[in-house]
Amino acid sequence: MPGTCASLLVIFGASGDLAQRMLLPSLYGLQHAGLLGPELRILGSARSELDDAAFRESVADAVRRNVPAADLDEASLAALLERVAYHAADSGDAESMARLGQRIEAMRTGDILYHLSTAPRFYVPICVALGALGLAGPGTRVMLEKPIGTDLGSATTINDGVARVFDEDRVFRVDHYLGKEGVQNLIALRFGNAMFEPLWNARHIQHVQITVAETVGVEGRGDYYDTSGAMRDMVQNHLLQLVCLTAMEPPARFEPTAVRNEKIKVLRSLRHIGREQVQSETVTGQYTSGAVGGKVVPGYGEELGRGSRTETFVAMRAHIDNWRWSGVPFYLRTGKRMPRRATEIHLQFRAVPHSIFDPRAKIAPNGLTIRLQPEERIELRLMSKTPGLDRAGLQLSQVALDLDMHEEFAASSRRPAYERLYLDALEGNGTLFVRRDETEAAWEWVDAVIDGWRANDIAPKPYPAGTWGPASAVAMTERHGHSWRE
Ligand code: BG6
Repeated sequence: MPGTCASLLVIFGASGDLAQRMLLPSLYGLQHAGLLGPELRILGSARSELDDAAFRESVADAVRRNVPAADLDEASLAALLERVAYHAADSGDAESMARLGQRIEAMRTGDILYHLSTAPRFYVPICVALGALGLAGPGTRVMLEKPIGTDLGSATTINDGVARVFDEDRVFRVDHYLGKEGVQNLIALRFGNAMFEPLWNARHIQHVQITVAETVGVEGRGDYYDTSGAMRDMVQNHLLQLVCLTAMEPPARFEPTAVRNEKIKVLRSLRHIGREQVQSETVTGQYTSGAVGGKVVPGYGEELGRGSRTETFVAMRAHIDNWRWSGVPFYLRTGKRMPRRATEIHLQFRAVPHSIFDPRAKIAPNGLTIRLQPEERIELRLMSKTPGLDRAGLQLSQVALDLDMHEEFAASSRRPAYERLYLDALEGNGTLFVRRDETEAAWEWVDAVIDGWRANDIAPKPYPAGTWGPASAVAMTERHGHSWRE
């Protein structure tokens, strides 16, 4: 149940990269749109010693750098800065946390939302310190950034530590993909239309492809990324959330428990891919130098400054072992330095059971593509008659029914994910956040794959930047008579 709207937002890690690039610009966006309650105060915290004025200066800087010039309005920025304060603290130092606690007490007028945007190893110490200071009781909630751990064991330790202080319904685990318009539109498309549901199953769908392709490399985050790789960085969270929303049964209501109960069933139905299966069901890759968008870019190892066996690309063939999806492969693929940025879900329907046309008329199976990024569009591919008098029999061609959401909703602005997530968390609505059991089930599945790679000594295959990954990713689908959409 949504609680009372929080009137104090405390951001830990407020000087970090995520805060600068996403969080503060999103708070600015909400301020500019008049969506922040008049009483809301924002307290930034990090280790660096800054006073309020210096922090406000850095907030203004971050907003000016990261908000498009057309959306910048100095009056809105000034109004945001008025809400902002800063207090340095170090979670390992009880005295500094106590002083932060006093500041929080002094600013508190109602519910508090803590946002932990630090390295995950600080989550438990921060929560424990807040608990000890009596600042984590009813009326407080906590938002946690990914990654929650690096495997099931470490995720459980973090979740247990946080749970000692915050009950699960006051914990909001962020997967920013759930804040994206396009991802919510997938839910709207599936459950706001009657026509898809009867077809949304193994009887009619031959296979599903989920692609999250990025053109960027590791962008100065090499130290983090090299301990993570695409499997932990993208598959464990974003891709598996997309699998859940694509595959789940209709929840009874669009509310936290109903939606998350359905998502966890999907995660628990994922067929195990372990030591025996990784060779045939997964492909890993690492980019070498190449060209993306006409620009020459270095390879992963050159960016990192050393050799590495970390994967920057993963392709897999997953299965959901339940009635709805029995026998339908879910091909998952994500990689950095791909030829173009594309996040999409593609459902390939089965062929017509019998063709009434001349054998020369090729009938391609229908396909539904839900494109989430860079632009939102929904494309349904159908067969249509090719105009003409057809003396050699009716000719058919594939045509696309193409819905461009940006054009369709030109008057509505597309809001960045964090704006939505902040509003929901401030109001205490956890529908678009990840529950503990989801995170842990996802880790369990991912851990088995990583263990399989290790046990089989599988090293990522090189692929030139600007290509769709190693050739074996193509071979993996072709073996089963399917091909990736490119
Ligand atoms: C993050 C990953 O969670 O998602 C990054 O850590 C990745 O490596 C990013 O680049 C992708 O997010 P988006 O919103 O740009 O698709």
